Amino acid sequence: MNSVTEPLVRLAARVDAIQPFYVMELAKEAALLERQGRDIIHMGIGEPDFTAPDQVIEAATSAMRRGVTQYTSALGLHALREAIAGHYANAYGIDVDPARIVVTAGASAALLLACTALVDRDDEVLMPDPCYPCNRHFVAAAEGKPVLVPSSPAERFQLTAADVERLWNQRTRGVLLASPSNPTGTSIEPAELKRIVEAVRARGGFTIVDEIYQGLSYGAPPVSALSFGDDVITVNSFSKYFNMTGWRLGWLVVPPSLVGAFEKLAQNLFICASALAQHAALACFEPDTLAIYEARRLEFKRRRDFIVPALESLGFKVPVMPDGAFYVYADCSQVAHSAAGDSAALTTAMLHDAGVVLVPGMDFGNHAPRSYIRLSYATAYSKLEEAVERLHGFFGR
Ligand SMILES: Cc1ncc(COP(=O)(O)O)c(C=O)c1O
Repeated sequence: MNSVTEPLVRLAARVDAIQPFYVMELAKEAALLERQGRDIIHMGIGEPDFTAPDQVIEAATSAMRRGVTQYTSALGLHALREAIAGHYANAYGIDVDPARIVVTAGASAALLLACTALVDRDDEVLMPDPCYPCNRHFVAAAEGKPVLVPSSPAERFQLTAADVERLWNQRTRGVLLASPSNPTGTSIEPAELKRIVEAVRARGGFTIVDEIYQGLSYGAPPVSALSFGDDVITVNSFSKYFNMTGWRLGWLVVPPSLVGAFEKLAQNLFICASALAQHAALACFEPDTLAIYEARRLEFKRRRDFIVPALESLGFKVPVMPDGAFYVYADCSQVAHSAAGDSAALTTAMLHDAGVVLVPGMDFGNHAPRSYIRLSYATAYSKLEEAVERLHGFFGR
């Protein structure tokens, strides 16, 4: 169709507030190189290389055959909400009332629902910089204002209670955190998280903690923000720990008093999350499936333990050891390359010269983005080894 004759459709102003993903441009370039026959190692995308275990696939197939594919309650299947509550008890030792669990189409729908429910026009929401890029866009989609708070290695790249005390003003409504974080893989120390929750509570605000990577923790046993009070809202998902990205399933735990409001919004915005995915996810909590996930968690830890020293041997600095997720946020300002300190130019050069995809810091905020790259080790160990070898050649080491 000739675009000149198309009527001009005016976009809503909020679209302008959403920035494109830089990594998508790199992914496009990588795809082009692959079409030209180049072998590219992908360490850009934040998606497990593992897929759903057989038990989950069988549960999905059986649900399909049984025809249990109608809409579910907007809050999710009762059995799934009970299974998720059981998982909190078994894995984290905390008691969560299944009635507080809202099943969603991934953490993305959970975050959209939470921002739609809690953020009014021009409300400010504090979040660390760097952080998961979509967080600022969920707030912007609700016409709120994301306030990116520069955070450095000293704060484990996370927001602090001192930030909350310093930056809270009349327009601030709450904080949006992720622990462990994307892009840094660092979690908030439990004592600090408790102080943040208390500081926000004292100001009458909301605390949303995205715990999507909590199952992938490699240090001390993780502590859910739900331990610090029923007023905390947490977000979680079957995408990362449960290796079900494309199934689009996640959940929220919300304060008892907010369940009705979230249910009303979920009914209207989504009707429900995928019934098939919900039936399949019931199998995630069976002991033999959990054993598979535990083995995969240990494999991610093995990859982290390989890649962090390997990056350091290449001249990158990893100022905080990531204790979760599958990311390393590495300082590239002192690597031996003319593009050191310009992560965009460096990642482009690494793609073209070494055939390795990494993400430049710009995708994650405005605080020193040119000094950092994000590496995702959600790819096979042998690929990581090969990538490191290629990068040794790239840096001439
Ligand atoms: C911190 C964080 N939150 C949420 C999401 C979205 O996940 P989902 O697939 O559950 O929508 C991602 C995906 O990368 C993420 O990294």
